[in-house]
Amino acid sequence: MTKNIVVFDTTLRDGEQVPGAKLNQKEKLQVAQQLKKLHVDIIEAGFPASSKGDFEAVKEIASQVGNTDDVMITALARAVKPDIDAVYHAVKHAKKPLIHIVLGTSDIHVQKKFSKTKEQILDTGVEAVKYAKSLLPEVQYSTEDASRSDFEYLWSTIEAVVKAGATMINIPDTVGFAEPDEFGELIYKINDRLKNVNNQVLLSVHCHNDLGLATANTLAAIKNGADKVECTINGIGERAGNTALEEVIMALHTRSSRYQADTNINRKEILNTSRLVSNLMGLEVQVNKAITGENAFSHSSGIHQDGLLKAREAYEIIHPSEIGLDDMELVLTARSGRHAFKHALQQLGFDQLTEQQLEIIFEDFLQLADSKKEVYNHDLYRLMEKFYKKNQ
Ligand code: KIV
Ligand code: ZN
Repeated sequence: MTKNIVVFDTTLRDGEQVPGAKLNQKEKLQVAQQLKKLHVDIIEAGFPASSKGDFEAVKEIASQVGNTDDVMITALARAVKPDIDAVYHAVKHAKKPLIHIVLGTSDIHVQKKFSKTKEQILDTGVEAVKYAKSLLPEVQYSTEDASRSDFEYLWSTIEAVVKAGATMINIPDTVGFAEPDEFGELIYKINDRLKNVNNQVLLSVHCHNDLGLATANTLAAIKNGADKVECTINGIGERAGNTALEEVIMALHTRSSRYQADTNINRKEILNTSRLVSNLMGLEVQVNKAITGENAFSHSSGIHQDGLLKAREAYEIIHPSEIGLDDMELVLTARSGRHAFKHALQQLGFDQLTEQQLEIIFEDFLQLADSKKEVYNHDLYRLMEKFYKKNQ
């Protein structure tokens, strides 16, 4: 049976923490509207206690984007009443509001960051959940730095906050320290115990990409029982970023038999969302970025181009239209073969050329390709013009 994985997008909270990526209220609203079109299940719209502007933006998103049943709106609070109040007053305008509380569980956080005992931190967390629960029915608790926490303490925190009313437990790999087998095992152990305490609680994961493992860790978590994933568009976020939404979605879809899991995401909106976020935030997507990079669906080697024209699946595991791109792109270079060259000319309407004519133009193309890195359509038009002039 296929399991539905809940997708929680934190582009507007963790993603917006990228230096220089700040959005104004109108732009945040635009991103939230696009996230709704993408069919994410939960939008984390900001951190209302951080500033009046952030509070107002979350409030606007809650009322204008969260006005239907198909998306839940949340925002982040530390485990203190003023933060929880700020989230409550901002998200309560949504049809489905959620309060998200974060508090560390690792010794580093408990002892060094807060200078408290484990018992004190656990009590603070429980009180925060009870307070949030008195305001709204849906409360998520994030055990910050979970992957570097003592397991038994982590578990006692989870058990206590679930008993206090938390409806979602989020396990963050806050500093991107975990590796897939280890993170999968952690999720397996938590899931195993959690289902005996309350099997309605959603088990969530939130991974960072410091070692380039955020997507792998998230997928390992899904294989080991996670019900929900937290991601950002294009993987933007603190330091090396968060799990990239588009990577997890396309991995689940492309390798569906290995995961038996799917999401509600409207995959055709992936590219539109990626471009909107990149443009508004002024964060260029790395050209070779999986799924949304400019080169993700372009092929430049002659051997590959020839193979693709014979059988696309030889070098293509995702049809570009799946993510909203018209088609693959064959980038002509000196390494492109005759087959790709002929295909490119045909695409431009030059489809009546004899083999002999093609051979002559191909020689000119090779000369040109040797002198520049890539040959574009306008270069091909010029080659054809030259050819026709000579052969009139
Ligand atoms: O990375 C982290 O631990 C977070 C929490 C707020 C979930 O962003
Ligand atoms: Zn984070």
